[in-house]
Amino acid sequence: MIETEGLTKRFGDVTAVDSVSLSVAEGEVFGFLGPNGAGKTTTVRMLCCLISKTSGEARIGDYDVSKGDDSIKIRKMIGVVPDNVGLYEPLSAYKNLDLYGRLYGMAESKRKESIERYLNLLGLWEKRDVAAGTFSKGMKQKLAIARALLHDPEVLFMDEPTANLDPESAKTVRDFILDLKKEKRTIFLNSHNLAEVERVCDRVAILNTRLKATGTPSELERMVGGRSVVVDLAQASEAVVASLRKKYSGLTTAQDGVRLSFTSSDPDGQIPDIVEAVVRAGGRVKYAGVEGSSLEATYLQLVKSDA
Ligand SMILES: Nc1ncnc2c1ncn2[C@@H]1O[C@H](COP(=O)(O)OP(=O)(O)OP(=O)(O)O)[C@@H](O)[C@H]1O
Ligand SMILES: [Mg+2]
Repeated sequence: MIETEGLTKRFGDVTAVDSVSLSVAEGEVFGFLGPNGAGKTTTVRMLCCLISKTSGEARIGDYDVSKGDDSIKIRKMIGVVPDNVGLYEPLSAYKNLDLYGRLYGMAESKRKESIERYLNLLGLWEKRDVAAGTFSKGMKQKLAIARALLHDPEVLFMDEPTANLDPESAKTVRDFILDLKKEKRTIFLNSHNLAEVERVCDRVAILNTRLKATGTPSELERMVGGRSVVVDLAQASEAVVASLRKKYSGLTTAQDGVRLSFTSSDPDGQIPDIVEAVVRAGGRVKYAGVEGSSLEATYLQLVKSDA
């Protein structure tokens, strides 16, 4: 549904996006990660026909982003939640959406139905007659999400859609993304929230001007060697560590001697065995778990890689 080949954008001397080739299937939720200034927003702007590319190819469905006629068709089939929400501030929430629906040529009855549905879903129905300019950041963000969905787009680009939202609203939006996924919409999600990406995305790409890696979260995890099981002993014991080393060659210990880390390709599955081995070796376990957010560790390694 979304295809790029060597997609590149330069602003003067600055290469913002360098030779990015990726492919997003229909109905897929695709997470786009990368540090500030990595080129995520620039990529989305090119895909949404908001700025022109410097070189390379990009297609949405059967259409080419750089062809005039095609770009009109692309705009009809996509919805965009941009990084700066850009609402008509003097107009009410309702009128913002109504204006947008008109621009998309939606019939009045369909417009009314959609506006009511999305304002309700995002908790803004009570505020429908209030000027958008007086909204809080999070409320504006929600209105931008409603606007992006109004015309029932097949493909949705969301640039950090939960960045300004309180935890409850962020969860509403995430659940909502999962509902859209059930409807087989294709979603391209820029985000810095790794837990969010892990929860909603089928596949992930890591960008730092160039593409560093693409794959499912667990594929990326395997690329950097997997997660580890962490065990905290009730008391440091060299004898216990020496005994465990015979069985677990990847065992490392923290300086305090209390924390033991075991590299593992299946940390969740291996916790019971490891805990049992520690106890057999004479250790007492205070805590056992899997270290950190796996995607976070993976991200931190891959974003710096030379790939
Ligand atoms: N209109 C522009 N003119 C000049 N440089 C630009 C322009 N837009 C973006 N850039 C540059 O392109 C690079 C990528 O910016 P971009 O906004 O795409 O990053 P991003 O990955 O979205 O970052 P963030 O996580 O902070 O949103 C940056 O170096 C930025 O300064
Ligand atoms: Mg951005």
